[in-house]
Amino acid sequence: MPLPVDARLYALVPAAGSGERMAASLPKQYLTLRGRTVAEHTLSRLLSFAPIEQIVVATSTSDLWWPQLGIAHSKRIRSILGGETRAHSVLNGLMALKESASERDWVLVHDMARPCVRLSDIEMLIRECANEGAILATPISDTVKRADKGSILATVPRQQLWRALTPQLFPIYPLFDALQSALATGAEITDEASAMERAGVQPRLVAGHVDNIKITVPADLPLAAFYLDRQSQEGLS
Ligand code: CTP
Ligand code: MG
Repeated sequence: MPLPVDARLYALVPAAGSGERMAASLPKQYLTLRGRTVAEHTLSRLLSFAPIEQIVVATSTSDLWWPQLGIAHSKRIRSILGGETRAHSVLNGLMALKESASERDWVLVHDMARPCVRLSDIEMLIRECANEGAILATPISDTVKRADKGSILATVPRQQLWRALTPQLFPIYPLFDALQSALATGAEITDEASAMERAGVQPRLVAGHVDNIKITVPADLPLAAFYLDRQSQEGLS
Protein backbone atom coordinates (compact mmCIF):
# COMPACT_ATOMS: atom_id res chain seq x y z
CA MET A 1 0.00 0.00 0.00
CA PRO A 2 1.61 3.26 -1.12
CA LEU A 3 -0.37 5.61 1.13
CA PRO A 4 2.29 6.94 3.52
CA VAL A 5 1.56 6.03 7.15
CA ASP A 6 1.18 9.70 8.02
CA ALA A 7 -1.10 10.44 5.04
CA ARG A 8 -4.68 11.42 5.67
CA LEU A 9 -7.43 9.94 3.54
CA TYR A 10 -10.32 12.10 2.32
CA ALA A 11 -13.37 11.36 0.18
CA LEU A 12 -14.79 13.63 -2.50
CA VAL A 13 -18.29 13.02 -3.79
CA PRO A 14 -19.44 14.81 -6.97
CA ALA A 15 -23.20 15.28 -6.57
CA ALA A 16 -23.96 18.38 -8.63
CA GLY A 17 -25.58 16.63 -11.59
CA SER A 18 -29.21 17.04 -12.55
CA GLY A 19 -29.84 13.45 -13.67
CA GLU A 20 -31.04 14.24 -17.18
CA ARG A 21 -31.01 10.61 -18.32
CA MET A 22 -33.07 9.59 -15.30
CA ALA A 23 -35.72 12.12 -16.36
CA ALA A 24 -37.25 12.24 -12.87
CA SER A 25 -38.85 15.24 -11.17
CA LEU A 26 -35.81 15.65 -8.92
CA PRO A 27 -32.08 14.85 -9.24
CA LYS A 28 -31.50 11.09 -9.09
CA GLN A 29 -29.40 11.26 -5.90
CA TYR A 30 -32.60 12.22 -4.02
CA LEU A 31 -34.76 9.40 -5.36
CA THR A 32 -35.78 6.81 -2.78
CA LEU A 33 -34.17 3.39 -2.63
CA ARG A 34 -35.30 0.96 0.08
CA GLY A 35 -36.63 3.82 2.26
CA ARG A 36 -33.67 6.19 2.00
CA THR A 37 -32.36 8.54 -0.66
CA VAL A 38 -29.60 7.35 -2.97
CA ALA A 39 -27.37 10.06 -1.42
CA GLU A 40 -27.95 8.73 2.11
CA HIS A 41 -27.03 5.18 1.03
CA THR A 42 -23.83 6.34 -0.64
CA LEU A 43 -22.72 8.66 2.17
CA SER A 44 -23.53 6.27 5.00
CA ARG A 45 -21.28 3.68 3.36
CA LEU A 46 -18.42 6.18 3.13
CA LEU A 47 -19.05 7.43 6.68
CA SER A 48 -18.86 3.88 7.99
CA PHE A 49 -15.30 3.66 6.67
CA ALA A 50 -13.36 5.03 9.64
CA PRO A 51 -10.06 5.93 7.91
CA ILE A 52 -11.83 8.68 5.92
CA GLU A 53 -11.06 11.95 7.68
CA GLN A 54 -13.65 14.10 5.91
CA ILE A 55 -16.09 13.78 3.00
CA VAL A 56 -16.37 16.77 0.68
CA VAL A 57 -19.69 16.79 -1.20
CA ALA A 58 -20.05 18.99 -4.30
CA THR A 59 -23.66 20.03 -4.93
CA SER A 60 -25.37 22.37 -7.35
CA THR A 61 -26.41 25.95 -6.55
CA SER A 62 -29.99 25.04 -7.47
CA ASP A 63 -30.06 22.04 -5.11
CA LEU A 64 -32.95 22.51 -2.65
CA TRP A 65 -32.84 18.94 -1.36
CA TRP A 66 -29.30 18.57 -0.03
CA PRO A 67 -29.57 20.99 2.95
CA GLN A 68 -32.74 19.16 4.05
CA LEU A 69 -30.96 15.82 4.50
CA GLY A 70 -29.83 15.18 8.07
CA ILE A 71 -26.69 13.45 6.80
CA ALA A 72 -25.60 16.69 5.06
CA HIS A 73 -24.92 18.12 8.50
CA SER A 74 -22.75 15.26 9.79
CA LYS A 75 -19.51 16.34 11.44
CA ARG A 76 -17.34 14.59 8.85
CA ILE A 77 -19.21 16.06 5.84
CA ARG A 78 -18.30 19.38 4.24
CA SER A 79 -20.51 20.84 1.49
CA ILE A 80 -19.11 22.86 -1.40
CA LEU A 81 -20.47 24.06 -4.73
CA GLY A 82 -19.93 21.88 -7.78
CA GLY A 83 -19.35 23.04 -11.34
CA GLU A 84 -20.67 22.81 -14.85
CA THR A 85 -19.43 19.24 -15.47
CA ARG A 86 -18.48 16.36 -13.18
CA ALA A 87 -14.80 17.18 -13.71
CA HIS A 88 -15.38 20.80 -12.68
CA SER A 89 -17.21 19.63 -9.57
CA VAL A 90 -14.26 17.39 -8.70
CA LEU A 91 -11.82 20.23 -9.35
CA ASN A 92 -13.79 22.49 -6.98
CA GLY A 93 -13.71 19.75 -4.37
CA LEU A 94 -9.95 19.30 -4.73
CA MET A 95 -9.47 23.04 -4.38
CA ALA A 96 -11.46 22.94 -1.13
CA LEU A 97 -9.42 19.96 0.10
CA LYS A 98 -6.15 21.74 -0.58
CA GLU A 99 -7.11 24.31 2.09
CA SER A 100 -6.54 21.69 4.78
CA ALA A 101 -4.83 18.68 3.15
CA SER A 102 -1.07 18.28 2.88
CA GLU A 103 0.91 17.10 -0.16
CA ARG A 104 1.02 13.63 1.36
CA ASP A 105 -2.75 13.22 1.53
CA TRP A 106 -4.95 11.09 -0.74
CA VAL A 107 -8.55 11.26 -1.90
CA LEU A 108 -11.17 8.68 -2.83
CA VAL A 109 -13.41 10.25 -5.49
CA HIS A 110 -16.78 8.49 -5.54
CA ASP A 111 -19.95 9.24 -7.54
CA MET A 112 -22.99 10.03 -5.39
CA ALA A 113 -24.93 7.95 -7.93
CA ARG A 114 -23.17 4.69 -6.84
CA PRO A 115 -24.95 3.66 -3.63
CA CYS A 116 -24.05 -0.05 -3.81
CA VAL A 117 -20.28 0.28 -3.39
CA ARG A 118 -18.95 -2.36 -0.98
CA LEU A 119 -16.62 -1.42 1.87
CA SER A 120 -14.60 -4.53 1.04
CA ASP A 121 -13.97 -3.12 -2.46
CA ILE A 122 -12.85 0.22 -1.00
CA GLU A 123 -10.48 -1.64 1.31
CA MET A 124 -9.13 -3.70 -1.58
CA LEU A 125 -8.63 -0.55 -3.69
CA ILE A 126 -6.53 0.98 -0.90
CA ARG A 127 -4.60 -2.27 -0.35
CA GLU A 128 -3.77 -2.76 -4.03
CA CYS A 129 -3.20 0.88 -4.93
CA ALA A 130 -0.02 1.74 -6.83
CA ASN A 131 2.09 4.85 -6.15
CA GLU A 132 0.35 6.56 -9.07
CA GLY A 133 -3.14 5.73 -7.81
CA ALA A 134 -5.81 3.16 -8.65
CA ILE A 135 -9.43 2.78 -9.64
CA LEU A 136 -12.12 0.13 -9.21
CA ALA A 137 -13.05 -1.40 -12.55
CA THR A 138 -14.75 -4.45 -14.07
CA PRO A 139 -13.78 -6.32 -17.24
CA ILE A 140 -16.13 -5.82 -20.21
CA SER A 141 -18.20 -8.94 -20.82
CA ASP A 142 -20.13 -7.88 -23.94
CA THR A 143 -18.79 -7.95 -27.48
CA VAL A 144 -17.96 -4.34 -28.32
CA LYS A 145 -18.55 -2.64 -31.69
CA ARG A 146 -17.20 0.59 -33.09
CA ALA A 147 -19.91 2.22 -35.20
CA ASP A 148 -20.65 5.20 -37.38
CA LYS A 149 -24.19 6.37 -38.16
CA GLY A 150 -25.71 3.13 -36.92
CA SER A 151 -23.48 0.77 -38.97
CA ILE A 152 -20.67 -1.34 -37.59
CA LEU A 153 -17.15 -0.32 -38.56
CA ALA A 154 -15.30 -2.89 -36.46
CA THR A 155 -15.42 -5.28 -33.53
CA VAL A 156 -13.12 -4.05 -30.78
CA PRO A 157 -11.14 -6.84 -29.09
CA ARG A 158 -12.43 -6.79 -25.51
CA GLN A 159 -9.51 -8.59 -23.83
CA GLN A 160 -7.98 -5.26 -22.88
CA LEU A 161 -11.20 -3.38 -22.15
CA TRP A 162 -12.41 -2.46 -18.68
CA ARG A 163 -15.31 -0.44 -17.37
CA ALA A 164 -14.10 2.30 -15.03
CA LEU A 165 -16.04 2.56 -11.74
CA THR A 166 -15.55 4.67 -8.64
CA PRO A 167 -14.04 5.13 -6.10
CA GLN A 168 -10.87 6.32 -7.80
CA LEU A 169 -7.95 6.84 -5.42
CA PHE A 170 -5.23 9.43 -6.05
CA PRO A 171 -2.89 11.77 -4.21
CA ILE A 172 -4.73 15.11 -3.90
CA TYR A 173 -2.11 17.53 -5.27
CA PRO A 174 -1.07 15.59 -8.41
CA LEU A 175 -4.75 14.92 -9.17
CA PHE A 176 -5.58 18.61 -8.87
CA ASP A 177 -2.71 19.56 -11.23
CA ALA A 178 -3.62 16.84 -13.75
CA LEU A 179 -7.32 17.73 -13.79
CA GLN A 180 -6.66 21.45 -14.06
CA SER A 181 -4.27 20.96 -17.01
CA ALA A 182 -6.60 18.54 -18.76
CA LEU A 183 -9.58 20.91 -18.44
CA ALA A 184 -7.44 23.83 -19.66
CA THR A 185 -6.95 21.98 -22.97
CA GLY A 186 -10.72 21.66 -23.36
CA ALA A 187 -10.58 17.86 -23.10
CA GLU A 188 -13.72 16.04 -22.01
CA ILE A 189 -12.76 14.33 -18.77
CA THR A 190 -15.25 11.83 -17.35
CA ASP A 191 -13.12 10.27 -14.63
CA GLU A 192 -10.06 11.10 -12.54
CA ALA A 193 -7.87 8.38 -14.05
CA SER A 194 -8.15 9.87 -17.54
CA ALA A 195 -6.75 13.17 -16.26
CA MET A 196 -3.86 11.29 -14.64
CA GLU A 197 -3.31 9.26 -17.83
CA ARG A 198 -2.95 12.51 -19.78
CA ALA A 199 -0.31 13.53 -17.25
CA GLY A 200 1.63 10.38 -18.18
CA VAL A 201 0.88 8.04 -15.29
CA GLN A 202 -0.63 4.57 -15.46
CA PRO A 203 -3.05 4.09 -12.57
CA ARG A 204 -3.72 0.51 -11.44
CA LEU A 205 -6.99 -1.27 -12.20
CA VAL A 206 -8.47 -3.10 -9.24
CA ALA A 207 -11.26 -5.55 -10.10
CA GLY A 208 -14.39 -4.57 -8.19
CA HIS A 209 -17.88 -6.10 -7.94
CA VAL A 210 -20.33 -5.56 -10.81
CA ASP A 211 -23.07 -4.50 -8.37
CA ASN A 212 -21.31 -1.12 -7.95
CA ILE A 213 -23.56 0.37 -10.65
CA LYS A 214 -23.98 4.05 -11.40
CA ILE A 215 -27.69 4.85 -11.28
CA THR A 216 -28.19 6.51 -14.67
CA VAL A 217 -31.50 5.49 -16.29
CA PRO A 218 -34.84 4.54 -14.65
CA ALA A 219 -34.17 0.79 -14.94
CA ASP A 220 -31.10 1.18 -12.71
CA LEU A 221 -33.18 2.06 -9.63
CA PRO A 222 -34.89 -1.35 -9.15
CA LEU A 223 -31.58 -3.02 -10.02
CA ALA A 224 -29.80 -1.06 -7.27
CA ALA A 225 -32.61 -2.01 -4.84
CA PHE A 226 -32.10 -5.67 -5.75
CA TYR A 227 -28.33 -5.42 -5.20
CA LEU A 228 -28.80 -3.67 -1.83
CA ASP A 229 -31.24 -6.39 -0.72
CA ARG A 230 -28.82 -9.09 -1.78
CA GLN A 231 -25.93 -7.39 0.01
CA SER A 232 -27.92 -7.13 3.23
CA GLN A 233 -28.86 -10.83 2.94
CA GLU A 234 -25.14 -11.52 2.65
CA GLY A 235 -24.64 -9.41 5.79
CA LEU A 236 -22.75 -6.70 3.91
CA SER A 237 -24.85 -3.70 4.87
N1 CTP B 1 -21.91 15.44 -11.27
C1 CTP B 1 -21.39 16.58 -10.65
N2 CTP B 1 -21.37 17.77 -11.34
C2 CTP B 1 -21.86 17.86 -12.59
C3 CTP B 1 -22.37 16.70 -13.24
C4 CTP B 1 -22.37 15.49 -12.55
O1 CTP B 1 -20.96 16.52 -9.51
N3 CTP B 1 -21.86 19.04 -13.20
C5 CTP B 1 -21.98 14.18 -10.49
C6 CTP B 1 -23.38 13.56 -10.48
O2 CTP B 1 -24.18 14.19 -9.47
C7 CTP B 1 -23.09 12.09 -10.21
C8 CTP B 1 -21.70 11.88 -10.82
O3 CTP B 1 -21.16 13.19 -11.08
O4 CTP B 1 -23.05 11.78 -8.85
C9 CTP B 1 -21.76 11.05 -12.09
O5 CTP B 1 -22.43 11.78 -13.12
P1 CTP B 1 -23.71 11.29 -13.91
O6 CTP B 1 -24.02 9.88 -13.62
O7 CTP B 1 -23.55 11.71 -15.33
O8 CTP B 1 -24.91 12.15 -13.22
P2 CTP B 1 -25.78 13.32 -13.84
O9 CTP B 1 -24.87 14.27 -14.56
O10 CTP B 1 -26.61 13.86 -12.73
O11 CTP B 1 -26.72 12.54 -14.86
P3 CTP B 1 -26.98 12.91 -16.42
O12 CTP B 1 -25.62 12.89 -17.10
O13 CTP B 1 -27.91 11.86 -16.89
O14 CTP B 1 -27.58 14.30 -16.42
MG1 MG C 1 -23.72 13.61 -16.29
